[in-house]
Amino acid sequence: MDNPSGIVFLHGKLIPAEKACVSVFDRGFLFADGVYEVIPVYAGKLFHLAAHLKRLAQSLAAIQLENPYDDVAWVKILESLISKNGGGDLSVYLQVTRGIATRDHAFPAESCSTVFAMANPLKPVAEDILQEGVSAITLADNRWLRCDIKSIALLGNVLLRQRAVEADATEAILIRDGLVTEGAASNFFMVQNNEIITPPKSCLILPGISRDVVLELATKCGFNSRESDVTEQMLHQADEIWLTSSTKAVLPVTKLDGVAVGSGKPGETWKKMHDCFQQQIDRLRD
Ligand code: PDD
Repeated sequence: MDNPSGIVFLHGKLIPAEKACVSVFDRGFLFADGVYEVIPVYAGKLFHLAAHLKRLAQSLAAIQLENPYDDVAWVKILESLISKNGGGDLSVYLQVTRGIATRDHAFPAESCSTVFAMANPLKPVAEDILQEGVSAITLADNRWLRCDIKSIALLGNVLLRQRAVEADATEAILIRDGLVTEGAASNFFMVQNNEIITPPKSCLILPGISRDVVLELATKCGFNSRESDVTEQMLHQADEIWLTSSTKAVLPVTKLDGVAVGSGKPGETWKKMHDCFQQQIDRLRD
C-alpha cells in the first residue's frame, strides 16, 4: 500500500496520518456499521458541500445514528483539513461509524461515534480517456435493497468493480430485474435521440450529487432530459452512455460488453455536458 501521508481528522483532532489508529472493537471494523461521503475539492474549495452534508444527514438518519456535528462544525473541520493538506484539488473522504462496543449485532445502549476524515489528491481524468472514453461491462446487481444509504459496507460494490477490472473494463453497469440501476461506484446516464435519460431515485441507487449537478445543468443549458427506467434493450441501443461520480465528474463510456457505444467515441452531447460541468468547476477556481 502507498504510505498514508498528510494530516487526517480523527477523534476530534487533526493528526498526522501515520499516527491515526482506530480500535478493533469499532463497529465500523466489525460490522461496517457506518456511513461515508466523498466530496471533491477544487482549488481548495468544497464542491456542492451543502448537498453532500444533506446526504450525509440522510444516511445517518437511515441508520439511526446521530449526526456528530452540525453543518457549521463540519465546514470548520473540512476546511481546516483541506488547508492542513495544502489545498488544491483534493478528494475529501469522511466516515462516521457507531463507535466502540462489545460485539453484538443490535445497537449498543450507549456509544460514541468514530469520525474520520482524510484528503487525498484528486487527479484530473486523463486526456486519452476524455478523447477515447472508457469501457464497461454489464453485471447483475446483487447488492442489498438500501443502495440509497451511503454505507461503508461496500463489499457488493467492491466485488462487482473487481469483476469489471478483471474483464479489462473501467466500470460495471448494474442490472436488476431487467432495468439499469447504476455503476459499481457511479450513477448512470444515457443519451438517445438527443435526450438525456437517467434512472429515477429509489432505494436501489445512490442519490449521487454529480447526478443532480448533471440534471441541473441539463435544464440550465437547454438539453432534453428525463428521469425514467432504462431497460437492458434501451441500454444496448444508447447513442451515448455516461457515468457520473464526485471523483470522475462525467465519464463517457464508448464500449459496452465489448461492443462500441454509438460511434465508439465520446458523443457530442457528452462534450457539451462535460464543458458545462468544467465551467462550473472553473468558477470555483476564480
Ligand atoms: N462513489 N453510486 C455509487 C454506488 C457510488 O459509490 C457513487 C460514488 C455514486 C456517485 O455519487 P456522487 O456523484 O455523489 O459521487 C453513485 C464515491 C465516489 C466513492 O465511493 O468513492
